[in-house]
Amino acid sequence: MNILFAAFEAAPFAKSGGLGDVAGSLPAALNALGHDCRVMMPKHGGYETAPLTSFRVRLGWRDQYCGIEKAQAGGVTYYFIDNEYYFRRESIYGYDDDTERVAFFSKAAAESLDRLGDFRPDIVHCNDWHAALIPLFLAGRAKTVMTIHNLRFQGACPMWVTGDMLGLEDDEEACAALRWHDGANFLKAGIVRADRVTTVSPSYAEEICTEEYGEGLDPILRMRRDALCGILNGIDGEKWAPCADKSELCSELGLGQDEKAPLFAMVSRLTEQKGVELVLECADRLIREGGQLAVLGTGREDYEKALTRLAERYPGKVSVCIRFDEELSHRMFSGADFVLVPSLFEPCGLTQMMAMRCGSVPIVRRTGGLKDSVADGVNGIVFNDADAEGLRWALSEAMGIYGTDKYREMRENAMKCDFSWSRSAEEYIRLYESIS
Ligand code: ADP
Ligand code: GLC
Repeated sequence: MNILFAAFEAAPFAKSGGLGDVAGSLPAALNALGHDCRVMMPKHGGYETAPLTSFRVRLGWRDQYCGIEKAQAGGVTYYFIDNEYYFRRESIYGYDDDTERVAFFSKAAAESLDRLGDFRPDIVHCNDWHAALIPLFLAGRAKTVMTIHNLRFQGACPMWVTGDMLGLEDDEEACAALRWHDGANFLKAGIVRADRVTTVSPSYAEEICTEEYGEGLDPILRMRRDALCGILNGIDGEKWAPCADKSELCSELGLGQDEKAPLFAMVSRLTEQKGVELVLECADRLIREGGQLAVLGTGREDYEKALTRLAERYPGKVSVCIRFDEELSHRMFSGADFVLVPSLFEPCGLTQMMAMRCGSVPIVRRTGGLKDSVADGVNGIVFNDADAEGLRWALSEAMGIYGTDKYREMRENAMKCDFSWSRSAEEYIRLYESIS
C-alpha cells in the first residue's frame, strides 16, 4: 500500500516531542512490512532537499507559494512543503498565526496529492490538529486516518476563519464538520471526516470518550466510537540502547557520586500535562530522604523558574537543565536509576519506554499509554492518583527497593520489554486495509 504520513514535525528533521519521534520511526516500520509510506511535513529548516514541483495555494483571499521538495532519511522518503514565510522560524510552534500556518499546511498537503510524480497514496494518515483539515480538503480523493496524539490541542478558532482562511464558507458540509460550539474546531472536523480515528494507546482511546479526558470533544468521539481505536506507539529500539552509566551522568550534571543515593530523572516538556507540580511538591522530601534529582526540559516559565530555584537550593543533589537536548536525554535515560512520568494524562508517552530500554525503572501514573506500557511491581512503579500523595507513595516504594534484588529484577524486566514498532505497524496496516 502507498501511505502518505502527514505530520507537522518528524525526526530527524524537526522534533519538539513524541509526535516527532513517531513520524520519524513508524513510516520505516511500515516500509519494513513491504509497504511504501512517505512522510509529508513543513520545511522548517535548511535541509538538503531536491525540488520536485511548485504551485500556488489559495487561503481565502491569500494566494501563497508552495514548493514541494524531497529528501531521504533512514530509508524513508520525505516530502517537504516549502514556504519560508510560514515555516522558516525559530521554533516549530507557538506563533500568533499558527492557525493560518496549519491551514496552509493542510491545504497544501491535500493539493500536492496529484503532484507527487508516480507516488499515488491510497491512504493519507493525518496526525494531530495540524493535519486535521486534510480529510476536508481531500473531499474523498483518498482514504484517511486521523491520529490523535494529544487531544488537548485542537485548533479551536472563530468561525470566520472558515471563510477568511479556508475559503470554505459556501461548503455547507465542511462548515458543519468544522462548527463546534460558537466557533470552528480543526480537530473536530478531522475526527468527523476521517475514515478512521486512532489514538496512540488503547487506554487513551477509552479515556477520551469520557468527560474527564475528552477535552470537550468526548461527545464527538463517542459518536465515532466504532471508527475509533488505540494503537500503542513503539520506539526505535536500535537508537534507544544504554549509552552512559550513572557515574558519568553524575559528573556531567555536577551531582554527588553516591552509589547509595537513587537518581531520579525526568525528561519532559514542562507543561501542566506532565505533572511538573507533583514533582515540585515532592522534591524536598525526596532529597531529604537521600535521593537525587535530574530534570531536563523546557516549557512554562513558572515551572522553569521553580525548578531552577530547586537546583540552586540543593547543589550536588538536584540538577536542572532548561533546554532541548536529545543526546543528554539519552544519557539520562541510561544513567538514572528511576525515570519519572507522573502525568495527569498521557496519550502514550515515550520517555518511559526509552528509559526502560536504556535501563532505568519508570515511575508512572496509571493513565493512558503509561498504564499500557508499565506493569506495577514487575517492570516499574505505577501510582493511581494525580496528586502529590500518589507520587509520594511511589517515591517511597522506589526508595524502599533501591539497591535490593527486587530493584535489579524490575530493571531487568524493563530492559527486556519489546517496544519495537513491528506489532503496532501491523495493526496500522490492518486498519488501512480495512478501509481501502
Ligand atoms: P510528548 O509528546 O507529550 O512531549 P512523549 O513522551 O511522547 O511526550 O515524547 C516526548 C519526546 O520528546 C521524547 O522523545 C523525549 O525524550 C523528548 N523530549 C522532551 N523534552 C525534551 C528535552 N528538553 N530534551 C530532549 N528531549 C526531550
Ligand atoms: C503526544 C502525547 C504523548 C505521545 C506522543 C506521540 O505528544 O502527549 O503521550 O506519546 O504524542 O504519540
